[in-house]
Amino acid sequence: MDKKLIKKKYNEKLELLKKYNRKYYNDNISVVTDADYDILKKDIIDSEKKFNFLKSKDSPSNLVGFKPSKIFKKVSHKVPMLSLSNAFSEDDLINFEKKITNFLSINQKFEIQYSAEPKIDGISASLIYRRGKLFKGLSRGDGKEGEDITENLLTINDIPKIILSKDFPKEIDIRGEVFIQNSDFEKLSEKFANPRNAASGSLRQKDPEQTKKIPLKFIAYTFGYEKGLIVNNQSDFLKKLNEWGFKTNPLNTLNSGVKNLMKNYQEIEKKRADLDFDIDGIVYKVNDFAMQKRLGNVANAPRWAIAHKFSSNKAISQILDIEIQVGRTGALTPVAKIKPINIGGVVVSNATLHNEDEINRKDIRIGDTAVIERAGDVIPHILSIDIKKRLKNSKKFIFPENCPSCGSKTIKEFNKITKKVDAVRRCSSEGYYCDKISIEKLKHFVSKEAFNIDGFGKKIVENFWKLQFIKYPQDIFKLDYSKIEKLDGWGQLSVKNLIYSINQKKNISLERLIYSLGIRHIGLENAKLLSKHFTSFSKFKNLSVQSDYEDLLNIDGIGETQVNSIKSFFSNKTNIKVLNELEKVLVVKNAIQNSEDGLLKNKTFLVTGKLNGISRAELKSLIEENSGKTVSSVSKKLNYLIIGDKPTKKKIDNAKKLKINVIDQAEFMRMLNKTS
Ligand code: IVH
Repeated sequence: MDKKLIKKKYNEKLELLKKYNRKYYNDNISVVTDADYDILKKDIIDSEKKFNFLKSKDSPSNLVGFKPSKIFKKVSHKVPMLSLSNAFSEDDLINFEKKITNFLSINQKFEIQYSAEPKIDGISASLIYRRGKLFKGLSRGDGKEGEDITENLLTINDIPKIILSKDFPKEIDIRGEVFIQNSDFEKLSEKFANPRNAASGSLRQKDPEQTKKIPLKFIAYTFGYEKGLIVNNQSDFLKKLNEWGFKTNPLNTLNSGVKNLMKNYQEIEKKRADLDFDIDGIVYKVNDFAMQKRLGNVANAPRWAIAHKFSSNKAISQILDIEIQVGRTGALTPVAKIKPINIGGVVVSNATLHNEDEINRKDIRIGDTAVIERAGDVIPHILSIDIKKRLKNSKKFIFPENCPSCGSKTIKEFNKITKKVDAVRRCSSEGYYCDKISIEKLKHFVSKEAFNIDGFGKKIVENFWKLQFIKYPQDIFKLDYSKIEKLDGWGQLSVKNLIYSINQKKNISLERLIYSLGIRHIGLENAKLLSKHFTSFSKFKNLSVQSDYEDLLNIDGIGETQVNSIKSFFSNKTNIKVLNELEKVLVVKNAIQNSEDGLLKNKTFLVTGKLNGISRAELKSLIEENSGKTVSSVSKKLNYLIIGDKPTKKKIDNAKKLKINVIDQAEFMRMLNKTS
């Protein structure tokens, strides 16, 4: 082969690798199997060794990971950029509305007004204006911290740079979506898989001159913090946005009640194919700002909004193999390895089969031809199989009885709530006995919502695990960097970056730490509740010796399932060792209490009966905001029993016996200097 051809082949491979990296690090999509990725990488490095004229700054021997984010300054969002929960059906919407009426304690017949806004599939951005001037522009980032992409955003014509309107707030963070129209994307389609990637790639260009060449558009739809905004609802806010010179979605409407939302959904879905921009659903927002404020947020998403997604993309392909993956909680998930196929711009080679029951019910077999569905960001799954195309020699798939990773017995648990045996089969081992579970636990530990260690992604966990650098979470903080420096693909600089990222995360909030431990049934929201309850790491850790588990049931939101899971976590010696070791290497910040000396300081409350105009959940938030606590039963620990309509007589009698103050709603409100 001549030099030119070798160089050409090398460059092609390098481009392919860069594309895979971009997908993996920017979009979280694995376009190839890990094995194929490794082969390609090795191939490139081998050719470099063989032909010393082959060199590139993009060579995998220089590359740790693809991290364009390093080039932009990180800036905290004053008000976090939340995500949205999804709805897929009318039932989901009914449920969404029910939760709202329950929370606000309003009659279910009350017609709530919603702003319905077609959800453009682009990249969200936050624009901060001060005295009418665009001052800074940020990307969403992880929702709490974004990147300063002001220069790139300034190149977008749709974004007003100066706003002179008298009623434009003194300070406001206007948020919206940056996107590319489909007609413009056609000209760029060679470079990017879909319009969303094109928008994301262009926005994060290092050089704004490059961004300028891409016809990016912007539509505005919400705000973060503000000073001097004088509107009371979302539909008026959207009107104001137009008056101030922003573009808004021309298909936004105001609707009331689920029936009308469904009608609007169907109408928009019909128009979808003819639009010049991609929409993947409709966002519904409770129109009234006062209601939004009362509803507040759960974990990462507001209670007052939801995204109603459109149906997905489907394709037909063949199941080449069925692999059993072991997850962090021991769940055995069958995954179909399918002949790679492009579904809606993404190459899919894996599809989940959910669980054992699903395989049996659909009698899914290796070799079958199947319909694969990819909806939004969810993992693609097998919808159905075509029996007519089944191969003659195909055999029924037998689900393994033992964990394919550690050989432990697998079990199907009995769910006390549904009174049914779980569909999921699980590895019965505890702690870090099972290798696959341990790796998954470590991946969870470093993940975005947990320790979020920059540059320490899933691939690195797998790699360091194989090299036996890490087995337990604490090992991450005790790495022997001199060994890492000698590894293929690592150099002094990348190790320096890694040390920096790891050290930075040694300071951690209790809430994140609890979440990171990956205790089953303890997600973000529960971790937050536990952190508020324990306030310090040492008190949390004390559970192992003090085992006052019953007390945990007093935390609203924590039930028997969670308590049992916490119990089983603390009954495992390895877990205790992990906690002890983590305590040595971390500085865990205590949980911040809702104002420490509010009006209800050191007071505990319990409600019996129905309240007027306020739900239990809202009352609980109100008590906590004012430093009070709620308990779940009448005991000596209780200070006030609040009685509503039709109270439980026994509770009142018990309270009186214990000389507990029995008050009504009005009296409670007076304690807060409020009238109800
Ligand atoms: S409101 C607090 N309105 O959807 C609610 N978001 O999954 C979140 N999006 O990151 C923002 N159209 O990128 C809102 N009309 C709209 C939207 C919209 C698209 C995107 C946005 C956000 C994501 C949430």
